[in-house]
Amino acid sequence: HEGRLWGGRFAGGPADAMFALSQSTQFDWRLARFDLAGSRAHARALHRAGLLTEDELTGMLAGLDRLEADVVSGAFGPAPTDEDVHGALERGLVERVGAELGGRLRAGRSRNDQIATLIRLYLRRAVRDVAAEVQMVVAALHEQARTHLGVPMPGRTHLQHAQPVLLSHHLLAHAWALLRDTDRLRDLDRRLAVSPYGSAALAGTSLGLDPTYVARLLGFDSAVANSIDGTAARDLVAEACFVLAQIGVDLSRIGEEVILWSTHEFGFVRLADAWSTGSSIMPQKKNPDVAELARGKAGRLIGNLTGLLATLKGLPLAYNRDLQEDKEPVFDSVDQLLVLTPAVAGLVATLTFDTERLASLAPRGFSLATDVADWLVRQRVPFAEAHHIAGAAVQFCEQRGLELSDLTPEQLGEVSPRLGPAVLEVLSVAGSIDSRDGRGGTATPRVGEQLAEVLDEIDDL
Ligand code: ARG
Repeated sequence: HEGRLWGGRFAGGPADAMFALSQSTQFDWRLARFDLAGSRAHARALHRAGLLTEDELTGMLAGLDRLEADVVSGAFGPAPTDEDVHGALERGLVERVGAELGGRLRAGRSRNDQIATLIRLYLRRAVRDVAAEVQMVVAALHEQARTHLGVPMPGRTHLQHAQPVLLSHHLLAHAWALLRDTDRLRDLDRRLAVSPYGSAALAGTSLGLDPTYVARLLGFDSAVANSIDGTAARDLVAEACFVLAQIGVDLSRIGEEVILWSTHEFGFVRLADAWSTGSSIMPQKKNPDVAELARGKAGRLIGNLTGLLATLKGLPLAYNRDLQEDKEPVFDSVDQLLVLTPAVAGLVATLTFDTERLASLAPRGFSLATDVADWLVRQRVPFAEAHHIAGAAVQFCEQRGLELSDLTPEQLGEVSPRLGPAVLEVLSVAGSIDSRDGRGGTATPRVGEQLAEVLDEIDDL
């Protein structure tokens, strides 16, 4: 077992099954370039502390560059005998610069602080990549909202008709949720920008090495204040899993609505051919698979989060090998979102709304009843009584198969003497929508302002 980073006190090599259990190259190899960046910074710290001569540093950096070129080209990769990415890369370095120089790099560091640093470097890149993709979904929602400004639809609570709203208002509600997610990613990056390098095994680095110098070279804002925390904490990985799961949940809620809206019964949207699938037996089918996979992936992302939290719960300080189990779930969450998000953006961007149907259904289900009550309040009727009268009007209509706007002045008087014919003026979808003109309301001018606000947020990302 050349390439093993330990062995001095062992009489023999590990048992095959032990090695198979321990090996992590099959998933941690994706951290190779971050490991190399860490090694370059560490070599400079060794040089600064007088532990590498100028020539040795030059030789070491040249060797790391050659190794990186071979990693990128695929000429160098993990061997079946390599335990992890760190061991594999040390083997690669020794192969290039010899055992004498290559063997100097490991001084003053441990795989414990290495891996804690590499996962943060990886996550800092990943949160940027994911945020850029989420931004594309927000942009697609914004574009649909912009082009449909003024189209009313049935707003729902409990999935029942509630009050008319603008389609744009509804679509932007999804956009705001996703913008909070990108804000969470940005906020997480602030915490990720603290380097554990120099924590070494747990107690901190010896040999006069400067963790703050290494942190700066790696693009971190600072070095951790506590080396035990630096090597043992994985809350940031769990937090990444949470934010990624929340994005999955928010995409899933969009997906669920697309699924409902594209049914024959709703008939609100048609899916573009490119973003739907057919059935192998039913020739007529056009299925919302993208939306369903959004819903399905959300479950998987939640599982990655809960699995990792369960792994962390009850772990004593400092490093424990259990911590190796943080990587596959968070890598999976990142990978799944990077595949899912562009498809959801495409799905949303290409939805065709049946705007006439949306508008015609907007006043159904007595969704203007609140407007009747509000009209009464403006006539100085106490709201509790107004609520009762409007409810009586709904009952009157329901018994006769009428809509509120069908009521004649005589019928209104029959429901309540308070209901003058002037109430009929507010019994329109447009009137109802534009009366909700406080900040955040569905009135057309307010939604126009919202479009501008969302665009600002997209530009800031
Ligand atoms: N592969 C380990 C991990 O992912 C890092 C190596 C530390 N291993 C060790 N035996 N101290 O957490």
